[in-house]
Amino acid sequence: MLASGSGSNLQALIDSPRIRPHLRLVVSDKPDAKALERARSAGIETRVIRFADYETRDSFSAAVADAVEDAGCGLMILAGFMRILSSETVDRFRGRILNIHPSLLPSFPGVHAVAKALEAGVKVTGVTVHVVDEGVDTGPIIAQRAVPVLPDDDEVTLHARIQVEEHALLPAVVAEVIAGAIQVGAP
Ligand code: GRF
Repeated sequence: MLASGSGSNLQALIDSPRIRPHLRLVVSDKPDAKALERARSAGIETRVIRFADYETRDSFSAAVADAVEDAGCGLMILAGFMRILSSETVDRFRGRILNIHPSLLPSFPGVHAVAKALEAGVKVTGVTVHVVDEGVDTGPIIAQRAVPVLPDDDEVTLHARIQVEEHALLPAVVAEVIAGAIQVGAP
């Protein structure tokens, strides 16, 4: 699992008894990410791989991929990981990288998806779990849940409502992948 921030989605996976035994490694580019604390508390191996320690995005990305492979992980899950993986890494893990994104893709890809939905005035937004390809939030969609935008919402209240759905959707998808109900992997 790759995370740069609070790791509430990681926590949702940790809290699933079906999924917890499959979580082998949490990688963060931010040494102070709360996600790392959550992983340590759950007894999951952690690695910090700082972007600044590498000359290029490709070499940073390769280090992340090496760590994931060394830990024997078959699946890479991105949740709030704020670095774009190189096309080489995407190719190496073709079809085996999942991302969770706080909008109904293909609407509002990239950063600030919640703010963009508010700015656009949509009445419904949501959450998407998708397979990562070379683009930014463009890969095949696996599952989505809709979330209403309420008249008084700001970015904080809307994101909080989206996160409630994220914490249900991501474990549901990962559990299905583990059970073999969703096939991921190189075509
Ligand atoms: C989530 O909203 C996810 O959709 C986005 O970044 C956020 C990460 O939250 N990609 P957390 O670190 O799991 O709490």
